[in-house]
Parts: sequence; structure tokens; C-alpha cells
Amino acid sequence: MTKKKILLTRRWPDSVEERLSRDYEATLNTDDVPMTTEAIGAALNDYDAVCPTVSDKLPAEIFTGGHRAQILGNYGVGFNHIDIAAAEAAGLVVTNTPGVLTDCTADTALTLMLMLARRAGEGERELRAGNWAGWRPTHMMGTRLRGKTLGIIGMGRIGIATAKRAHAAFGMKVVFYNLVDVPEEHIAGMDAVRMDTIEDVLEAADVVSLHVPGGRDNTHLMNAERLALIGPDGMLINSARGDVIDQKALISALKDGKLGGAGLDVFEGEPDIPAELIAMENTVLLPHLGSATRETREDMGNMVADNLDAFFAGKPVPNPVS
Ligand code: DGY
Repeated sequence: MTKKKILLTRRWPDSVEERLSRDYEATLNTDDVPMTTEAIGAALNDYDAVCPTVSDKLPAEIFTGGHRAQILGNYGVGFNHIDIAAAEAAGLVVTNTPGVLTDCTADTALTLMLMLARRAGEGERELRAGNWAGWRPTHMMGTRLRGKTLGIIGMGRIGIATAKRAHAAFGMKVVFYNLVDVPEEHIAGMDAVRMDTIEDVLEAADVVSLHVPGGRDNTHLMNAERLALIGPDGMLINSARGDVIDQKALISALKDGKLGGAGLDVFEGEPDIPAELIAMENTVLLPHLGSATRETREDMGNMVADNLDAFFAGKPVPNPVS
């Protein structure tokens, strides 16, 4: 039987590329050079499946006109880089990779939290620059997390995993905002308190961690007014999507002392990061490492492969995006 033609837009872990090359006529991006939107659009005419990643852009205009592709196997849980309505209107099935990156992304949120509270990035920079003058009682004092309040915006899988870690490891109190009810059994054992509004959470929390999808109504969810509610001693953590925060407003809030600090794994317009953000000591900045462990990146790839296998076998796909 002729193998289906598939395209991976970036390098994927070796074991997954091997699996897909065995089962499909797979085109790999061995140089790992990002593809332009035009090239991805053109690929829809040449391949049965196109497998983009969260750093690609698939706007509505690439889905106009007839094409060969029947499925987009997105490598990643977030899909705000794809115009889903346009893809679906063009008859494409879209799948993603939920669940397998929950733990690693929650770990990254905790990493940012600890680094920010304990000034780890700042300390490392001082030491590496040869500027450490030795131990002294008042040197680079940070903030203790134990007993502080963590506010989660978006109590889905990753929000819950982050809250559980913070509660178990640091005894943090948990408050949260979520659009819909969260089943009691998912948050058992944390005494987590659901609040009516985002503002209530921002006012109650010492550390706020964002766990909502990007795009649509969540674009600039954290605007100047909301950032100010976290307060001069408060910390903001973002391992979700860059556009959830109004980045210009964030820079102003950090500069003006309206917000204490920010730990960011994602950025508006990444990978371009404003110089002002880089220059600030009260920020911890990571290059979108949320899911970046060997194990998780392989799981994500295998999940895409499972979705393609199901689709081309005429079965329901396990992880449709809706
Ligand atoms: C995702 O899958 O959406 C993540 O951002 C990748 O780490």
C-alpha cells in the first residue's frame, strides 16, 4: 500500500522521526530551520498530513482553496498558532498533545517561582560576573514561599499540577479562578479556594501563575490594571502563552514598582525579547522550556503519531482539537 505523505515542520526527537519515517513517507526538517507561513500553506497541497509545532503560524488565509492535506497533527498542546475555525471549515482534522506535558510544564512554573522568589538568576549572574563579595547577612535576600498564597488563573490540568506541587512542597495556600467548575476530586487535599473573579485572585495572592490558553479572549488578559493588583511585592509567573500578558504593560509595571517580579517562560512575539525585560533584575526569563524534557518531547511526538495512525486507519482520532 502506498504510504501517506507527511511533513514535520521542525526536528522532532530521533525515536519519533524513526517511527514516522518507517510508517509514512515522511519529510523531515533535518536542518531545523523554521518554515515560513507561505511554505506551510504550500505544503497543504503536497502532503496528506502536515505536523506543525507551536512556533509555526497557520492563519486563516493558508486554508483557502482546495488542498491535499486532511489532518494537522500539531506537536504541542497549545493551538493558538492555528486558525482552527478556518482549518475545520477547509475540512481538516486538527489534533494536539494534551496531558503528556502537564508535569513538565508544572515543574517549569515551580522553577520560575523558586528562581524568582530566591533571586537565583540574579545570584548566578553576580557570581559568574565575578562580583560576589562573599556571604553576609543582608546579601541578596529573597522571599520565602512557605505559607504564602499562590493564585492560579486557569485551574485546568497544568494549573492543578502546579498548585499541588506548590502546596505539597512549600505549604502554599491556593486560591484560583476558573471559568467553569473544577471537579472536587481534582483539587482534593489542597484546601484550594475558588474565587469569583480574576481580580479577587490577584488581590489575595502573593504569587500568581497563569495557566490559560493563549489567543481569543485571553489576549492581554493581564492588562495594566490587573498587573497592578498583584502589587509591589507580588510575583507573576507565566508558563502558558506570551500573549496572555500585555508585555508593554508588564514592563511598565515592573519598572514603576507596581509589580514585584515576573518569571516568564513564554513571551509576546517570542523569540524576540524586549531589551528592557532582559535588563531587569526582577525577572527570570526562560526560552519556552515548559515541556522540554527528552521523555515529554518523545511522548508528544508519539501522541501525534498515534493520532495520524488512527486517522489514516479510518478511526476516530484520540486527541481532536475543538
Ligand atoms: C505546548 O505544547 O503548547 C507547549 O507550549 C510546548 O512546550
